[in-house]
Amino acid sequence: MSNRKRVGILISGRGSNMSALIDSCKDPSYSAEIVTVLSNRPEAPGLQIAAEAGIPTKAIDHKAYESREAFEKDLTDALEDSGVEIICSAGFMRLLTEGFVEHWRNRQLNIHPSLLPAFKGLHTHERAIQAGVRLSGCTVHFVRTEMDSGPIIAQAAVPVLPDDSPESLAERVLHAEHKLYPFALELVASGKARVEGERVVFNEKPAIHGAYIAPYFT
Ligand code: GRF
Repeated sequence: MSNRKRVGILISGRGSNMSALIDSCKDPSYSAEIVTVLSNRPEAPGLQIAAEAGIPTKAIDHKAYESREAFEKDLTDALEDSGVEIICSAGFMRLLTEGFVEHWRNRQLNIHPSLLPAFKGLHTHERAIQAGVRLSGCTVHFVRTEMDSGPIIAQAAVPVLPDDSPESLAERVLHAEHKLYPFALELVASGKARVEGERVVFNEKPAIHGAYIAPYFT
């Protein structure tokens, strides 16, 4: 039997990070496999892409539930029915309650398009440009109840160029996201990265670096 970690991906939309993870799992030496993709939006384009890649998918429409807890119970049931060991949120646009987050503590990853803890929440690229930062980027972290926080696994820095629009910056950061997420999941799935005292530490010596500067990140 394979000892690859069984991963469930949560999406709400186009699913480009999901696709990057699916592609990485095609390498037999990769430490994880995608066993299910779930979306809270039945119309999410990513569901179709996952189905075409031969991955079981399910839409669990949050609007059909009276409470967050009831929605999350079905989410956890679906994940556990598929034997999921690690969740990757990839553009999943629902806030999760403490009950769900604690159930999956240190087993749920998220990607955010900024160098956390800067620019949590929405409209990150617009806010980064407005703030005049010279470097932005993306972060993969373990999920905690507070939005866009939790132990950081890996980050990629991406330059903000003088004539950037939110769209052009988003595109450059997204390119880095597609490299960073598979890299971070491999660290966790292989057991090389673990949480100690709300920080991620690496088991390997010399320590692996979860840090990248985008132009050199190939
Ligand atoms: C990404 O920028 C991700 O960092 C953010 O939402 C976006 C999702 O894009 N959380 P996609 O669905 O993976 O293409």
